[in-house]
Amino acid sequence: MIKVLFVCLGNICRSPLAEAIFNHQINSLDLAYKFQSDSCGTSDYHIGELPDERSVASAKRHGIAISHRGRQLNHADIRDFDYIIAMDKSNKKNILQLMESYNLSHDRIYLMREFQPNASSNEVPDPYYGGEDGFENVYQILNESIKEFIVQLKKEHQVYA
Ligand code: 4NP
Repeated sequence: MIKVLFVCLGNICRSPLAEAIFNHQINSLDLAYKFQSDSCGTSDYHIGELPDERSVASAKRHGIAISHRGRQLNHADIRDFDYIIAMDKSNKKNILQLMESYNLSHDRIYLMREFQPNASSNEVPDPYYGGEDGFENVYQILNESIKEFIVQLKKEHQVYA
């Protein structure tokens, strides 16, 4: 099983949405036997909380259900996940700092938008303090990025489904 971890700051807006979109696309491709994902935040702000209702609504508009409780990135995640995908540069910096403090290394840490074809920026914007349109924008960015990420995962792991 290949394990993917999506990471943002609060683990209530972007990364639980990324997890839900990834799992939805993987299920549609009948690849759940091979790939699975989870999400977490670098902060402890929203541990145990349900995803932001605006993320839930944007997923629902696209026929996707989100099921997650907020949790914070920990050192076991660095050991256990094959891919770690940060939403923005500050998330990535925080991941690298945590790794340094535990003397851990990892060779597959990416920014989500490295996978988006023709991305206009390399960060998934934080929609927390914005409106509904910010969440729809995040949905579109994640959907496009994850689609291409899965294409690359399939190639890398020689899955020809
Ligand atoms: P997320 O969004 O990192 O996409 O979950 C945020 C959620 C909460 C906060 C910031 C960003 N906050 O400051 O509480």
